[in-house]
Amino acid sequence: MDPVSNPYSPGAGRKPAALVGRDSVLTAWRTSLRRTERGRPDQPFVLYGLRGVGKTVLLSELRRVAMGDEWIVAQVEADSSRGLRELLGEALYEPLSDLARPGLGARILQGLKTAASFKASYDERGAWTFGLDLSGAAGGGADTGVLDTDLRKLVRDLCAAAAATNHGVALLIDEAQDLQVTELAALCTIAHAAAQNEWPFLLALAGLPRLPRALAEAKSYAERFQYWRIEQLDESAARAALVLPATELEVNWTPEALEILVGASGRYPYFLQQFGQETWVAARGSTILEHDARLGVRLGTAQLDTGFFRVRWDRATRSEQDYLRAMADDGDNGSASGDVAARLGKTVQQLGPARANLIAKGLVYAPEHGIIAFTVPGMSSFIERQTSRSNIG
Ligand SMILES: Nc1ncnc2c1ncn2[C@@H]1O[C@H](COP(=O)(O)OP(=O)(O)OP(=O)(O)O)[C@@H](O)[C@H]1O
Ligand SMILES: [Mg+2]
Repeated sequence: MDPVSNPYSPGAGRKPAALVGRDSVLTAWRTSLRRTERGRPDQPFVLYGLRGVGKTVLLSELRRVAMGDEWIVAQVEADSSRGLRELLGEALYEPLSDLARPGLGARILQGLKTAASFKASYDERGAWTFGLDLSGAAGGGADTGVLDTDLRKLVRDLCAAAAATNHGVALLIDEAQDLQVTELAALCTIAHAAAQNEWPFLLALAGLPRLPRALAEAKSYAERFQYWRIEQLDESAARAALVLPATELEVNWTPEALEILVGASGRYPYFLQQFGQETWVAARGSTILEHDARLGVRLGTAQLDTGFFRVRWDRATRSEQDYLRAMADDGDNGSASGDVAARLGKTVQQLGPARANLIAKGLVYAPEHGIIAFTVPGMSSFIERQTSRSNIG
């Protein structure tokens, strides 16, 4: 069928035509926005799960909802080459410049001035003015260089500004497992301060399955955060992810074709989108048939092998790839570190650095002590497919 109208969208962070199966998180978020506006700020949201389950698009949806309610919202993706301070500062520029206009109240001017000083804390060259004369305003001082102190001032003054119009401030951080421990700890401290002082502030973090442990290690009160494990979709949501975008375009799926995609995808959103996209291309008429689905899965798997899986595989060094290969014998459910070591004829200690690097690269995680598992669903089958064709390595 016409590739131009193809409604499926495989790709990191790409908004699906139908975002399905995440109603409980979205409902909880809407409730938290309302509670927070009424002076009862809720605990931070933590969305964690494997690669490709839809954490980023869900986080972006939380952002969209908060922006629709006229909150001040900044969304960033943690990045080891830039600190949290700079990422947050830059992400705040746009929402704050949208606020700036002549004749603003004192609390909004104070928030803007404090944000300008926060910018000065990482960038000596240029301070923000937002086109306003902020010299007479109170505020500023978020430039001591101590992240806890500066972030606290920033959030406090922005919350006061947002409260002037009965709204709040939301910070959304993706790939949060890549933040420094000090950055995670600072965020926990700010969330705690917000709850104690009833600032209208909400924090949402998204990341890999090791994020909850990283938070617990950063600050003990992270135990009280709202943890949402984002998983593969349930059967009816998986079907809806395929059917709803097609129905909009007056295209139907036969039940058989649908079952093939739902089954082959393991109900993982990324795989549904990829197989959906290829099946659409394969289909000839306005009804998607079983053989279109079979072809779509085959072509989609080839796409995943050269894209989704391959880019992750290529991130590992030779010795790390050996480690991944040894893990693949156990499928996707995780391996005992001792078994992996035995297969490679090494000790667990000798393999410690490879294991640690693979965790830092976000390719594996430790679901429990002594166990290691892929963060990428389907990685073990990918390794098997490639090994049998002996074209990886
Ligand atoms: N609820 C959903 N319904 C339908 N499709 C979805 C849903 N969530 C995500 N997708 C699709 O799945 C793919 C992966 O989504 P996303 O990038 O948000 O995953 P992720 O969990 O952030 O992955 P990673 O850990 O690699 O960053 C995208 O193509 C997106 O369109
Ligand atoms: Mg993501």
